[in-house]
Amino acid sequence: PLDQEEYERPRLGTLGPVRVRVPAKINLHLHVGPVRSDGFHELVTVYHAISLYDELSVRRGDRLTLTMEGEGAGELAGDDDNLVLRAARALARYTQREPLARLHLRKQIPVAAGLAGGSADAAAALVACDALWGTNLSRDELASVAGTLGSDVPFLVLGGTALGTGRGERVSPVLASSHSWHWVVAVAGLGLSTPTVYRELDHLREYGAARESVGAPDRLLAALRQRDPLVLAAALGNDLQPAALSLRPELRRTLEAGHDAGALAGIVSGSGPTCVFLATDARHAEALAKELVDSGTCRSAQPAHGPVPGARVV
Ligand code: C5P
Repeated sequence: PLDQEEYERPRLGTLGPVRVRVPAKINLHLHVGPVRSDGFHELVTVYHAISLYDELSVRRGDRLTLTMEGEGAGELAGDDDNLVLRAARALARYTQREPLARLHLRKQIPVAAGLAGGSADAAAALVACDALWGTNLSRDELASVAGTLGSDVPFLVLGGTALGTGRGERVSPVLASSHSWHWVVAVAGLGLSTPTVYRELDHLREYGAARESVGAPDRLLAALRQRDPLVLAAALGNDLQPAALSLRPELRRTLEAGHDAGALAGIVSGSGPTCVFLATDARHAEALAKELVDSGTCRSAQPAHGPVPGARVV
């Protein structure tokens, strides 16, 4: 006969460990509207998940703990401010249970890079704890909890290519074909704080020093359907780029180096300072990445492809 503990176990998801892989994001289009009364900016963005991943493994425990290794792990808050812990607690609150789990994060996505690494880890924590605890939330429920954690978190639960509105937290998939795009991700030595970049854009706009906004994403969405990298190259746009360049003028050299190496286009990713370059195919991306590393204008450069799925149990 089953003892009491065994008998109750079906309510739990799994004994673990649960491993979740989550991608980085870039913004193919980022229109920044006016500041709202809550301090956030109204956005219209096209998110794109790329093949640069963090991995979170979660197992049962008698308290909530987090250990970290890898890219920039030492710089992350290990306390209550950490987005991974906040995500686990938010899911526990939502599902009315104790936040008991041992989490281990392996980071490859650089921190404060404009690649939504922290938001990705929060999305991974939601998906992982949901599986561990057997709470089985729908994608919509996960997305609504995700939205309370950060503007980019719902997209990282979803993945692929998606239109983001509101402060970025309202996402809907873009009818993307199975077509893959090839990118090079050039990471800078020093990170940038997202709020600082938004504030810089506000200042530039106040003084009439920001260029015109990229506006509506129609051209970008049409380019995605055409599957022609040259057409996509001409349609990429980011309102935060002038602000990132104003704070980090040396990024112009990175963009120039990519252009000189034959990239179809180069753009600052989100709030930066990472620059992403569009390549014609995987081999072109490999070659571009090597040239960018050799140019000495970035800390690292690596090929990636997209779109890829959002946070998933592996
Ligand atoms: O939502 P998240 O916590 O990732 O945002 C980080 C910061 O970026 C916000 O505190 C805000 O300063 C800025 N932000 C913004 N408008 C948005 C998204 C982010 O001003 N739509």
